[in-house]
Amino acid sequence: VIYLDHAASSYPKPAAVARAMVDYLETAGSPGRSGHRLARRAEEVIWQAREAVVALFGGGEPERVIFTINATAALNTALHGLLEPGDRVLTSEFEHNSVIRPLHELVRGGVQWTRVPAAPASPLDLSVLAAELAAGNVRLVAMTHASNVTGAVAPLREVRDLARSYGAVLILDASQTVGHHPVRFDDADVVVFSGHKGMLGPQGTGGMYVSDRVAIRPLLRGGTGGRSESPEQPRWLPYALESGTRNGVGVAGLGAAVRHILELGVPAVVEREQSLRARFVDAVAELPGVRTWDRGGAESVGVVSLTIDGLAPTTAASMLEDRHEVLIRAGLHCAPAAHRALGTAPSGTVRFSISHQNTFAEVAQAADAVAQVAASTRRAVAASAEQAR
Ligand SMILES: Cc1ncc(COP(=O)(O)O)c(C=O)c1O
Repeated sequence: VIYLDHAASSYPKPAAVARAMVDYLETAGSPGRSGHRLARRAEEVIWQAREAVVALFGGGEPERVIFTINATAALNTALHGLLEPGDRVLTSEFEHNSVIRPLHELVRGGVQWTRVPAAPASPLDLSVLAAELAAGNVRLVAMTHASNVTGAVAPLREVRDLARSYGAVLILDASQTVGHHPVRFDDADVVVFSGHKGMLGPQGTGGMYVSDRVAIRPLLRGGTGGRSESPEQPRWLPYALESGTRNGVGVAGLGAAVRHILELGVPAVVEREQSLRARFVDAVAELPGVRTWDRGGAESVGVVSLTIDGLAPTTAASMLEDRHEVLIRAGLHCAPAAHRALGTAPSGTVRFSISHQNTFAEVAQAADAVAQVAASTRRAVAASAEQAR
């Protein structure tokens, strides 16, 4: 098969990931609990994973790396743990439901939420953002770093500087960038990552880097292995935000995945993914009946959305799998507002998400599959028009 669904979850994982997970299962006890050697081993493996994430983020402190079960859990923790009734929050129109749904709930509790529209060549209009910030009372800006629908990368540095100049906290949803696009620990006040996409780790992993500029109220409170006599949740990181037995097996795999990326080097990963994406876009852009949904101008990760005239995206996905063994994701991609902004709601698009692990032959074959599906759709549409005459 040709796997082009890396934005949902990367596949396959580097061999070192499974090895690290098996090793953890065979050699580790409960992290941070008992003092014996198997427990110490478990804590050590988790700590090494924090160090690997810090190395990937170009600095920071390992204790500020919080592990959760996915990016969704980290986003919920950060949004619920920072916003109070009456606060204003700004987002782009390209947010994932893991931001949209918690905010929808928080709005019921009195938070005010404004979506900043996209500009022609950018997922976020900086002049509107500046005007909204100037209007006052903005506690927080939450923004996806790269759209999981178009791949477009947001103007992060400008947004960070603007948010900071108005004293607003920036939560960066870097689910679609960490591992295959440069992301630094100081790019935002909270940098959220998904462990199982571009970071190449196992599902059940994710987290966030929390800067010293914010104090997030925990969403979960419970056992942390220390100060057990106190009913108060500890205030120090990472334990303030990591209650209960952690996913040590998953984190062991994530640590190995990040070390694999560090060995490859993010610039090399970026370069290969970009070349593969360019090859695919060049091959599909001019196909009759095929439309790509790039927001021309913006930098992109390896995601490409397209539509085929006369064909529902979900039908296109089945044809691509059944006839051509190409695995992609069709529909709204948990980002309905992005599709409304693009004009591709309600049925969405056919999304190809390319990784450095793909080959040039694979992307060429996938583009050829799109050409064949589009051509057979054109023939079918022409035949039924002929019949109707
Ligand atoms: C932009 C974006 N944010 C958040 C998420 C949620 O990630 P996770 O599956 O790790 O919760 C996704 C995953 O699809 C995503 O694309």
